[in-house]
Amino acid sequence: MESKHLRFLRVLEEVVSDLPERVLRRLCRLHDIRGHRGDTRLEHSLKVAYLCWRLSGKFRVDGKIALESGLLHDIGYGIPRCPLCKLDPGGHCGICHWRTGSELLEEVNVDPAVVRAVRRHMFPYGPPPRTPLDWCVWTSDKLESVLSFLGFRVLPDPVLKRAVSAIYTLS
Ligand SMILES: [Fe+2]
Ligand SMILES: [Fe+2]
Repeated sequence: MESKHLRFLRVLEEVVSDLPERVLRRLCRLHDIRGHRGDTRLEHSLKVAYLCWRLSGKFRVDGKIALESGLLHDIGYGIPRCPLCKLDPGGHCGICHWRTGSELLEEVNVDPAVVRAVRRHMFPYGPPPRTPLDWCVWTSDKLESVLSFLGFRVLPDPVLKRAVSAIYTLS
C-alpha cells in the first residue's frame, strides 16, 4: 500500500473516531445505498473524502476538515424529504439530501464549516458554494463521479476495503 494511502487511512480514522454515534450509524447505512458504477454510496463518500484530502492544499484548506466534509457530504442520502423521493425505488431522490444531511449534522454539532460545505455541495440543485472548503467538496464530488464513469479507480480496492472496515469497526 502506498504511503499516501496509509496517511489517508490514518487521518480517516482520526476523523471517524471523533464523529457522533448517530452520524457513524448513518455512514454505515450508506453502504446499503447505491453509488456510481457499482460502488455503494459509502464507497463514493470515501473516494470523495480522499479527493478532498488530496486537493485540500490547492484550495488552501485544512486537510482533516476537507476529508471530514467529503466523507459526510452525502450523509443525507436515505432520508426521504421531497415529493421526488417517492419516485425513487430506494426512497430518496438524490437531490434533497444536501438539506437533510446538513440539518442532521447541525443537530449533532458537527463543525459549522463542514455543515455549510455539505449544504452547498449540490449546486445547481442547491445553494452555491462560497468558501474554499465548499468548492473543494463540490469539485471533488463532481470529479469522483466523472472519474468513476470513465472507469478510473480513485482508490485501489484494498484501500477502499480498509476504509470501509475502519468505519464499521469504529461505529
Ligand atoms: Fe450529493
Ligand atoms: Fe456525492
